[in-house]
Amino acid sequence: MSAVGDAVLYEAVGVSKSYGSVEALLDVDFKLHSGEVVGLVGDNGAGKSTLVKVLSGVHPPDSGKLVLEGVERHWASPHEALAAEIETLYQDAGLAPHLSIGANVFLGREILRPGILGRLGFMAQRQMDRAALHELAQVGIEIQGSRKTVAELSGGQRQAVAIGRAVAWARKVLLLDEPTNHLGARQALEVLEVIRKARDRGLGVVFISHTLPHVLQVCDRIVVLRLGRVVRDAPTSEFDAESLLGTITGLLEAS
Ligand SMILES: Nc1ncnc2c1ncn2[C@@H]1O[C@H](COP(=O)(O)OP(=O)(O)OP(=O)(O)O)[C@@H](O)[C@H]1O
Ligand SMILES: [Mg+2]
Repeated sequence: MSAVGDAVLYEAVGVSKSYGSVEALLDVDFKLHSGEVVGLVGDNGAGKSTLVKVLSGVHPPDSGKLVLEGVERHWASPHEALAAEIETLYQDAGLAPHLSIGANVFLGREILRPGILGRLGFMAQRQMDRAALHELAQVGIEIQGSRKTVAELSGGQRQAVAIGRAVAWARKVLLLDEPTNHLGARQALEVLEVIRKARDRGLGVVFISHTLPHVLQVCDRIVVLRLGRVVRDAPTSEFDAESLLGTITGLLEAS
């Protein structure tokens, strides 16, 4: 356990969220500390992405509250959560395929050219490309050919850009919804290393994955969701591959 102190960084308290008649989250308590990686696991449809979207301001909770550094917060938009230093990699990564890697890394926070061009809103393309590559390299992600558009990248490289963007901007909370999707074995291990480095910088990191060995490798604590409820929240040392799988599927209690 490498959590720095006991103070909770970000917390969901008794959060419920439905989509019409689908109860995606039911009375969920979720805590994240600085310098901690929390694994969020559960079967398809368990509510993991919904919890990420509540934490990142995409969906307001139907009930319950969000508390950041001891202060209750209501996000009117994902932008507000972002401004409060909650950085998110969504499962559907949201890159703009026709834009360059640089433009994607800076999407929504474009560096404007100074002077009249800046006032007209032109972006400093080369500067962004350079800075983007630097930011990606900082987090251990190297991509050949920075001027390429995202449409020209492989699925794994796109995923790397999306991860790099989230990690590079993260200052407090980093929510990663299946970041190792589409990645080869070596790249996935690199992402785990990027996650460890983010934790060592003091960030609170949420890591969602169906690859249980990765979860067991990188997480300090694991929260298991089943049908929208938290069924287990315990230090990683209390799980092994078999018990984690059993908790996810619910077969552990049944047997
Ligand atoms: N926009 C939506 N509209 C209606 N129902 C939704 C919507 N998003 C998710 N759901 C439903 O809410 C439940 C939880 O979905 P969620 O995406 O949070 O699951 P998940 O744990 O992320 O699953 P996966 O591992 O497949 O990504 C599911 O029953 C899903 O069908
Ligand atoms: Mg999901």
